[in-house]
Amino acid sequence: MARILITSALPYINGIKHLGNLVGSQLPADLYARYMRARGHEVMFICATDEHGPPAELAAAKTGESVADYCARMHGVQTELARGFALSFDHYGRSSSPENHALTQHFAARLGAAGLIEERREKQVYSPTDGRFLPDRYIEGTCPACGYERARGDQCENCTKQLEPTDLINPRSAVSGATDLEVRETRHLYLRQSKLRDTLDAWIDRQQGWPVLTTSIAKKWLHDGDGLQDRGITRDLDWGVPAQFEGAPWQGMEGKVFYVWFDAPIEYIAATAEWAREHGHKAEAWRRWWRTDEGAGDVRYVQFMGKDNVPFHTLSFPAPLIGSGEPWKMVDYIKSFNYLNYDGGQFSTSLGRGVFMDQALSILPSDYWRWWLLSHAPESGDAEFPWENFQGSVNKDLADVLGNFVSRVTKFCRSKFGEAVPEGGAYGPREAQLITDLTSRLQAYMRHMDAIEIRKAAAELRALWVLGNEYLQDAAPWSTHKTDPAQAAAQIRLSLNLIRLYAIVAQPFIPEASARIMAALGSSDWTWPEDVAAALDHLPAGHGFTVPDVLFAKISDESRAEWETRFAGQR
Ligand code: MF3
Ligand code: ZN
Repeated sequence: MARILITSALPYINGIKHLGNLVGSQLPADLYARYMRARGHEVMFICATDEHGPPAELAAAKTGESVADYCARMHGVQTELARGFALSFDHYGRSSSPENHALTQHFAARLGAAGLIEERREKQVYSPTDGRFLPDRYIEGTCPACGYERARGDQCENCTKQLEPTDLINPRSAVSGATDLEVRETRHLYLRQSKLRDTLDAWIDRQQGWPVLTTSIAKKWLHDGDGLQDRGITRDLDWGVPAQFEGAPWQGMEGKVFYVWFDAPIEYIAATAEWAREHGHKAEAWRRWWRTDEGAGDVRYVQFMGKDNVPFHTLSFPAPLIGSGEPWKMVDYIKSFNYLNYDGGQFSTSLGRGVFMDQALSILPSDYWRWWLLSHAPESGDAEFPWENFQGSVNKDLADVLGNFVSRVTKFCRSKFGEAVPEGGAYGPREAQLITDLTSRLQAYMRHMDAIEIRKAAAELRALWVLGNEYLQDAAPWSTHKTDPAQAAAQIRLSLNLIRLYAIVAQPFIPEASARIMAALGSSDWTWPEDVAAALDHLPAGHGFTVPDVLFAKISDESRAEWETRFAGQR
């Protein structure tokens, strides 16, 4: 039994996420967490809301709430949606927690003591109209690297380049739109990342087997231009982790907070500490996941994120972990995703274009979304969400293939043998062949799941379901029953057990349907069917079951057309 630490990139607190956000981190992380638990491993699956920085302050300003109230309310909303999508976090934390304040300040103090933080006088964009400095997302303009016109002061969404507000061409205030901006002097703390460049470079080189998408982005920021730049880690803001604290190795930072991207990844650790507190565990309980000197040496740590997050996780987060000089657990594998586009364009929060998490759950059960999103995860390039493809995939894979198998087998059994696994003859050569085929498909499925090759895993899962349908078609118990009822009974006994096997192996993808199937079959033993033959003998003759209600209802053309219009934008 291994120990697996899994983190999903933390969603910003502001607003409800769309399906593209969901499939880029939280959903695949959940798939992997569920799979690893199902295989019997000890899993710690962590996520949290990312609550500091301009996005939270700007959103709170719009609703008129205090930023603290806004964050508390939105954390509740996001928690409910996570539950709706059956995201199985061990803890869903908040980056504004006391644990994160303490740890962020701890790292800052360690880095300061190691000579890796220095104070610099610098010029920042100031807006007289707004009466404040405009860090990060408070300012927008044209990206100097790619020309994208809505780049933000901290990063260009289009080309992923990390920026400083003063880099932007034609800058304007994101608060007021003011363009009469000035540059004023202020003092900030800088993390001397350049001093860690060679260490980080060597660390990346040791990460054998990382996807090219991940390492190439990291290498680009290490080596392009002047290489890894020192980075300002404080901001002139009120909301965040105070940069002046007891024991800080500097003075005069009152009124400043740490930059959101400094404290957010530290929340992965802090959220594990929140988990320990909420469960009444001692500090050792979280430290054994994060400190290699306290047991985390044999933890495998996997991170999930969209491609725009990769520079922060390959460089910006490892820098303080390494720079602290303490034995913190470093990531072992980064799974990153491209973007999911919506029906020929981008999802757009401002235009209300695309399907957002709350809307998705209001029209269909979460498993439908989980299945489509995961089986079409944007792994090798950007992907598209076309309604027609979504409808086809749900109707075929879920309703026609899996749902139909479950319904035919259980209904046939009820009508011919009653609602219990029938007595019957032994399995024959056709069953032996099926077991061989299922075994090799299941092995392939497990290989892809282990490697986090999600689309390939989904294809194998679908192929497993198809094998059952082919078997049923070929064995035709409805005609066998007329000539040889004992053989038909054996075929049905096998098929009922196969339904159970499907529920167990499909659970990481469609947990709610799997739970309904297991309940209908009267089984609560979720042991992974390592040995297919044994699993197909699991439910003995006489074991009672009930016919489940329709597992997956088909999506009609009318519904599809209606949703297509409803989610086209301008809500
Ligand atoms: N909130 C960021 C985003 O949505 C991700 C933060 S990930 C963390 O892009 F590592 F900082 F936690
Ligand atoms: Zn750009």
